[in-house]
Amino acid sequence: MTNTNGKKTFYITTPIYYPSGNMTIGHTYTTVAADTMTRFRKLQGYDTYFLTGTDEHGQKIEKKAAEAGITPIQYVDKIVAETKELWKLMDIQYDDFIRTTEERHTKVVQKIFRQFYEQGDIYKAEYEGMYCTPCESFWTPTQLVDKDGVKVCPDCGRPCQPMKEESYFFRMSKYQDWLIDYIETHPDFIQPAKRANEMLTNFLRPGLQDLCVSRTSVKWGIPVDFDDKHTVYVWIDALSNYITALGYGTEHDELFRKYWPADIHLVGKEIVRFHTIYWPIMLHALGLPLPKQVFGHGWLLFGADRMSKSKGNVVYPGPIVARYGVDALRYYLMREMPFGADGNYTNESFLLRMNADLANDLGNLVSRTVAMIEKYFDGVLPAWDQNTEEPIGKELREHCAKLPALFEEQMDKLQFSQALAETWKVVGECNKYIDQTQPWVLGKDPEKKGLLGNVLLTLAECVRFVAVLIQPVMPSTPARIFEQLGVTDESLKSWESLQSFGRLPEGLRVHKGEALFPRIDVNKELEALSAGTPGKDEKAAKKEQKAAEKEEKKAEKKAEKKHEEPEFPAEIPFDTFAQCKMQVARVLECVKVEKSSKLLQFRLSFGADGERTILSGIAKYYQPEELVGKQVVAITNLAPRKIAGIESQGMILSALDGAGNLRLMTVGEGVEDGAIVG
Ligand code: ME8
Ligand code: MG
Repeated sequence: MTNTNGKKTFYITTPIYYPSGNMTIGHTYTTVAADTMTRFRKLQGYDTYFLTGTDEHGQKIEKKAAEAGITPIQYVDKIVAETKELWKLMDIQYDDFIRTTEERHTKVVQKIFRQFYEQGDIYKAEYEGMYCTPCESFWTPTQLVDKDGVKVCPDCGRPCQPMKEESYFFRMSKYQDWLIDYIETHPDFIQPAKRANEMLTNFLRPGLQDLCVSRTSVKWGIPVDFDDKHTVYVWIDALSNYITALGYGTEHDELFRKYWPADIHLVGKEIVRFHTIYWPIMLHALGLPLPKQVFGHGWLLFGADRMSKSKGNVVYPGPIVARYGVDALRYYLMREMPFGADGNYTNESFLLRMNADLANDLGNLVSRTVAMIEKYFDGVLPAWDQNTEEPIGKELREHCAKLPALFEEQMDKLQFSQALAETWKVVGECNKYIDQTQPWVLGKDPEKKGLLGNVLLTLAECVRFVAVLIQPVMPSTPARIFEQLGVTDESLKSWESLQSFGRLPEGLRVHKGEALFPRIDVNKELEALSAGTPGKDEKAAKKEQKAAEKEEKKAEKKAEKKHEEPEFPAEIPFDTFAQCKMQVARVLECVKVEKSSKLLQFRLSFGADGERTILSGIAKYYQPEELVGKQVVAITNLAPRKIAGIESQGMILSALDGAGNLRLMTVGEGVEDGAIVG
């Protein structure tokens, strides 16, 4: 798309978050990523539009408000105000913040809902579910929690009863084949690519269920305007925000016409399904083009768990920013883990990275460069001395000249961490270059003045390149670097100014300033942070881990009593172990073995090593459907044996958990099917 000035447009969104509680570092992660990407495209000259907002309807909010003794709108107004404050604190420059309670949204959602109904995509039916009377909540069987064999409400823990509710349903099944074809022919649509496979194997190919899209039991929602017993249920309301915010379906749809389809919907991996199955189908049913890409990033974990408001293991950005500044936190979030993978947030990893990358690598480079220009050239940048060869820095200058292209290549794939890693390679080379050229030695020899000038110019120009490139990630540090370098000319801060190396003009006056980032005492800061962080601190986490280990030991003992533990010899020869072939496999099919309460029959793929059938006695612990698409570990060179009349060609590994349930062993992300375990 291009706008009227011929500029290319770029439209990016975050999920609209539930204002059921304050936003955490997890929500901040997505929002900072979207902001970084927007700033980068802006730097490149795109006409950008960045949308975020809040998803304000539903039972949970209704309940929270009731608990607080206020109305739902009063409740969300407060959280929204705090969310906006947080985004300001984090230097987030969104173009619009949509709230699903705004009329510009609700009116259009009603219109969309009606259109779906009129064109036959939505029909009315009875919905069978489990109902929790005290909570007035419907639950699907999989949402219920098992408590001593009784299925109870996941919210209050009380038993549920089967109940019928009248609902509208969206005929998702009608569009299934179209969507499979679309995903298969648009490899960039779902990123990372492995998430496309998950969608195809786990949801689309097995067959789509029609989706429940209205409720009669939830009052805090958008009324269905032709049947006002019903409110619009969750996803039609929430997902439509991406177009209602642009004025779709109204007289003022200029933004929609300019920016749709979105370039990127950024979402956490748990909602990829809604964005790559329901949303495309809704758009297709409306006759609209699909977003160019849905990127499902990984989770920020806290310990082994996903941070969540309901679990209470949450880290909030406020105290971190107050102590170390926004740029340090933004840098950490974008640098620490590859975008797409899960990663752990710890105060320690944050502090270490701040020290290593920011205070040491970048901070020292800038302060040494500026200090040496002050010392040897009275603070004024010399001209490049054409008569002096400076061969040591040739590679560095060439590398730095290529850096913008390397950076862009990674940013195009939303690989923020890699883009920064490329940048810090140059920073590292600069520091090495200082050690190699030893300017303080050159400074003693008046004959080497030309060489010294070329060395310092090389460094200063590298610093300028780095400062320009990190602007999208760190909104205020680059300005401080430009200030120290004496760069005031805006054009030297631009993307275009990186087209060639060596543009810093002679005569710039540098100003030695404060250190960009103070070096910190990690241990001391750890204590300060854990005192100030409302979430768990490192010590508490360790204590908890110990408690968990104790529990585990207890459970082991219990399990020992329940199951006959095999007698292990104290020691076996290494060769004996090496003979056992263990491989990673993916579950293609999984079904219950008839006449057996214990056995599941698996069809497994070992990648290039083909497929096998293996039986495993875990039927009590898993629903067969939930295992399809998962990776497991199996021993593949055991002699085959017949169980329940079926030949089992190996053994799937599992272990007992603390409650005495068998849990399948699995592997981390990115391991290929068929990979040898050992
Ligand atoms: O799901 N790690 O809202 P939500 C990484 N309203 N990302 C995290 C995170 C973590 N620990 N915690 C939150 C909803 N996020 C719906 C969305 S969209 C039409 C409707 C981020 O408040 C991540 O982007 O539960 C995740 O997908 C989102 O917040 C979930 O926010
Ligand atoms: Mg969620």
